[in-house]
Amino acid sequence: MCGIVGFAGKTDAVSVLLDGLEKLEYRGYDSAGVAVVSQDGRLQIKKSKGRLAVLREQLSKSEPIEGNIGISHTRWATHGEPNDINAHPHTGENGKIAVVHNGIIENYLEIKQFLINEGVTFYSDTDTEVIAQLLDYYYKQNSDITECVYKVLNRIRGAYALGIICSDCPDKLIAARKDAPLLIGYGENSNFIASDVTALLAYTRTVSYMDDNEVAVITPDSVTVYDADKNVIEKEKHTVEWDVSAAEKGGYRHFMLKEITEQPEAIAKTVNPRMKDGRICFEELAENPDFLKDVSKIYIIACGSAYHVGMVGKYTLEKLLKIPTEACLASEFRYCDPLVDENTLAIVISQSGETLDSMAAMREAKKRGAKVISLVNVIGSSIARESDIVLYTWAGPEIAVATTKAYSTQLVLLTMFAVYYSDILGIITESEYVSFMRELELLPSKVSEILKDTEKYQEAAARFFNHDSVFFIGRNLDYALGLEGSLKLKEISYIHSESYAAGELKHGTISLIEPGTLVVSLATYAPLIEKTASNVVEVQSRGAEVLTIATQSNAEKLKTKKENSFTVPDTDPLLQPNLGVIPLQLFAYYVALNRGCDIDKPRNLAKSVTVE
Ligand code: AGP
Repeated sequence: MCGIVGFAGKTDAVSVLLDGLEKLEYRGYDSAGVAVVSQDGRLQIKKSKGRLAVLREQLSKSEPIEGNIGISHTRWATHGEPNDINAHPHTGENGKIAVVHNGIIENYLEIKQFLINEGVTFYSDTDTEVIAQLLDYYYKQNSDITECVYKVLNRIRGAYALGIICSDCPDKLIAARKDAPLLIGYGENSNFIASDVTALLAYTRTVSYMDDNEVAVITPDSVTVYDADKNVIEKEKHTVEWDVSAAEKGGYRHFMLKEITEQPEAIAKTVNPRMKDGRICFEELAENPDFLKDVSKIYIIACGSAYHVGMVGKYTLEKLLKIPTEACLASEFRYCDPLVDENTLAIVISQSGETLDSMAAMREAKKRGAKVISLVNVIGSSIARESDIVLYTWAGPEIAVATTKAYSTQLVLLTMFAVYYSDILGIITESEYVSFMRELELLPSKVSEILKDTEKYQEAAARFFNHDSVFFIGRNLDYALGLEGSLKLKEISYIHSESYAAGELKHGTISLIEPGTLVVSLATYAPLIEKTASNVVEVQSRGAEVLTIATQSNAEKLKTKKENSFTVPDTDPLLQPNLGVIPLQLFAYYVALNRGCDIDKPRNLAKSVTVE
């Protein structure tokens, strides 16, 4: 996934483009570039491998590039290794047109061969250069750049968000999108495009979200959007409520620590508007009380941490709704010929709302007749707009690549959804409901209680950060929780780890346990605490060093050293995973800190994966 910013204004574009890119570096950061058209019609480009800071450094040392129309890009490489040549923007041979691109062009090789046969010489390994060269090829025959854009779009296949400028049109910025996010920002004597609203918050809060196959022609004073048939269309304008500080680090060393710390507030913002007079209320569902009436199967579809929310949800939904529920990796669901019909509910979970695997899986489920509810954090994102009903997590912008507050708000929202419908279906008892609501109200404060004492996680991390392999074991909800603990540790500390159903360990993997092996035992699921305690003994007897995460009422049932025993407050069993995950986040964070890793931008990763 990459970051795009475009500007059409009456002031210097470069500073706006670079400042905007800074907010998008979490989307990809192996190279960056900027292109502007000067008022006298010169196309000027600067691009380099490495972080945005490298580009800024190079710009400060070279002849200034000036212009009021421009595009910029921060890259997460898909085609062509990260280097100066493969960095965006890309141009065509005649050097008049520059393109930035997020997505993948699937038929780029056949087009590249066609152009080579037409005598075009390529300089990069990217699919994006093919777009620029093809544009160039058509532009030599037809000087209407918008017409040429349409010809290119009709020929390429794949996903794209494009920003295009041309030195012959020093007041025009063109944008196009299909299967990759792109929004339009409306400013004072200036207009913008960006992959994500956080890039524009310093300039405007009024945005429109481009839809697939739309083309926008943007000048400092006008925005014209066309559909696939070149008809002018009116786009709805939205006002972004997020404040700029929400997308800033706010004095924290890393966005990830800030977002871990924001969880009580994020949970409260997601939960409180949906609690009224002791009852859960979903405005989004109120007019559909029978939405689940004929549902005979539920698929929870997602990737990564969102999938781990689904793994917890599988246990919760089956328990509360008595409907068979399966948590599916979106990338697998798409190709497993899933058994879906009009009585299937697909719940798609995505922080960004732009993950291509999840989007494609959702479309597959819809095509097969499923009803779709999505749980999404980014307002107006593609998955949110294409699902039948969207339940937003109001966690605010999540910048760190490793999700924390989005995971937690998705988790509590999915649990609330299950309780809400269990009540409608007459399954949950009134006393269970009342008990749940009492604990739901207390959840933010119980999360805060854990966050008050981070020293013990820092101390444990200092003892274990040099391990090169860690096992997370748990049963039932704790097993699902262990999946998230393992991913958090892997993605930011680069330590290999594995999450295992504790009861399964003895069927093979326990052979890997040897003296000193670190095992993190999740022991917050009370009904199975005795069995989990015996699993702890099982690995300890083979020399493992065991960290336990247990509830305050059950901790003494586990025979682990005091310094290795983390406890969380007791709460309703359905909400216990929302507390158990906090120590896992903190442990992963401090281990990565000890290892000197780039916590907010881990290697090889991007915040939202909008490619297959
Ligand atoms: C989580 O820490 C990772 N960054 C990653 O697994 C992420 O959860 C996954 O890519 C799904 O992203 P989404 O929620 O935006 O769809």
